[in-house]
Amino acid sequence: MEQARMKLMIPGPVEVDPSVLAALSEPVEPHYGDAWVKKYARVIDILKQVFNVAGKDYDVYLMVGSGTCAIDASMSSSLMAGEKIIIGNNGFFGDRLVEVAQNAGLKVVEVKGEWGKLLDPQAIKEVLDANPDAKAVAVVHGETSTTVLNPVKEIGAVVAPSDAIFLVDAVSSFGGMPFDLEDWQVDICASATQKCLGALPGLAPIAVSTKAWKTIDRSFDKGHSWYTNLQNWRKYGTEWADWHPSPVTMPTNNVNALLVALEQLMDEGIENRMQRYRSLALRLRKGLREAGMEPFTPDDILNPVLTAAHAPVGHKSSEITQYLLNEHHIQIGGGLGHLKDVVFRIGHMSPVVTDADIDRVVTALKAF
Ligand SMILES: Cc1ncc(COP(=O)(O)O)c(C=O)c1O
Repeated sequence: MEQARMKLMIPGPVEVDPSVLAALSEPVEPHYGDAWVKKYARVIDILKQVFNVAGKDYDVYLMVGSGTCAIDASMSSSLMAGEKIIIGNNGFFGDRLVEVAQNAGLKVVEVKGEWGKLLDPQAIKEVLDANPDAKAVAVVHGETSTTVLNPVKEIGAVVAPSDAIFLVDAVSSFGGMPFDLEDWQVDICASATQKCLGALPGLAPIAVSTKAWKTIDRSFDKGHSWYTNLQNWRKYGTEWADWHPSPVTMPTNNVNALLVALEQLMDEGIENRMQRYRSLALRLRKGLREAGMEPFTPDDILNPVLTAAHAPVGHKSSEITQYLLNEHHIQIGGGLGHLKDVVFRIGHMSPVVTDADIDRVVTALKAF
């Protein structure tokens, strides 16, 4: 008997459009030469539009690796071992930022926030004032473990007057909501392609400001990796731009698949796509409430691409994930960390998700 097709609604990787997948089965091509340079430039050009930095003082690269590769690069390229970084941490991926920093040999000063609540910009300001030697402040934008969208613009405003650079993990938010790095005063923004852009895992867009380059280009004797050194991505992106614009062999099929997804975004229009994601979130929240499962965060900190909700009283959230998987062939995410049995998380961060998909999940939840 043929198995029913699984509907993938986890917080990434996401289900992708068939035409995105089709790009993977095209013949392999080299990561250099005229045709490639043109295509690659188009990818970077669209990514700049999504970061909203086109024509502004930012460089954008497409690193080969998952989102963590770009996060690693953001810290290890700009700070030397022993230097201080302030990390706002209110979730599982905030903990991860701390680990990445510690692995780079950095001295971490944590500003802890409650899971499920916004980071407090004022608390970050106070810690920054007390640690004027901090070289960077880092936060997660969309905290995927709790669905909280941290107030990066307000945090950027407290970091900008200092010498510290502002690093943001936007792995699960980039492409899912309007971005404006210049207005938010973000210096390095790290993301990934397998979430809101509706493409595949393996590529990591990263944007770098002029202020960040000043910190990166200090002469220092640190021995960080070559691969994640942003100076090498800049060198090939400029000096080798007209024939080989990246320092390493690109997964060309994967980049072509990304380009298909990005062109679809351009066709739909960035603003239209963002509104569509938002309306899916609102539709889901309404349905969850009808099903008696309250969203984990209030509507005023709406995450347009990811919704967490409480399991009904007397049930663990794993019962919901198992029920949807086994009886409705819908795969959603469970809770992370101490929220493991408390919440379940539904990803609607792919452009292929429709109102009908949301209704299918809600109908299934109502029958739980
Ligand atoms: C906010 C956030 N940061 C970092 C990561 C890690 O990204 P990757 O698995 O692409 O390295 C994830 C993955 O879900 C994430 O959601």
